[in-house]
Amino acid sequence: MTQPIRLGLLAATITLVLFACGSDAVTVAPEFGSPLAADADGPTIYEARCASCHGTDLRGTEKGPSQLSIVYEPGHHGDDAYRSAVRNGARQHHWGFGDMPAVADITDDQIETVITYIRAEQERLGFE
Ligand code: HEC
Repeated sequence: MTQPIRLGLLAATITLVLFACGSDAVTVAPEFGSPLAADADGPTIYEARCASCHGTDLRGTEKGPSQLSIVYEPGHHGDDAYRSAVRNGARQHHWGFGDMPAVADITDDQIETVITYIRAEQERLGFE
């Protein structure tokens, strides 16, 4: 007789915990599907993990801003801002695209590699 009540309480507790966590954490991006090779190069990582929102050409999509915007030059958004955005996500604050979710399935080494790639592309293409 007590068993269903216990289960009900447990379910209610889990729901509460999930709800409490969900309210303050930036969501994690849905699974990207294919895991990346540990030694994937910058363009590969960018294409797989960033391009769907920031655009293959870095110029943004309807889901995320251009990485060539002057606000992303290193003096305004340093590499630590990049590390944090990828690991923790970023609350909407510069644009109207919504929050950036934390990026799933990416290692610390891959984050460094993709930042190096983006910085090189910013240098090559210039800020707009
Ligand atoms: C699901 C969409 C999405 C993906 C995937 C994504 N971003 Fe973002 N990103 C956004 C949005 C939206 C913003 C704008 C937030 C705002 O309003 O400032 C943003 C902002 C940023 C910022 C600025 C953060 C800040 O502090 O202002 C950086 C840096 C960034 N993205 C880098 C990346 C990199 C690198 C990747 C890939 C590893 C990536 N993003 C993947 C959507 C995405």
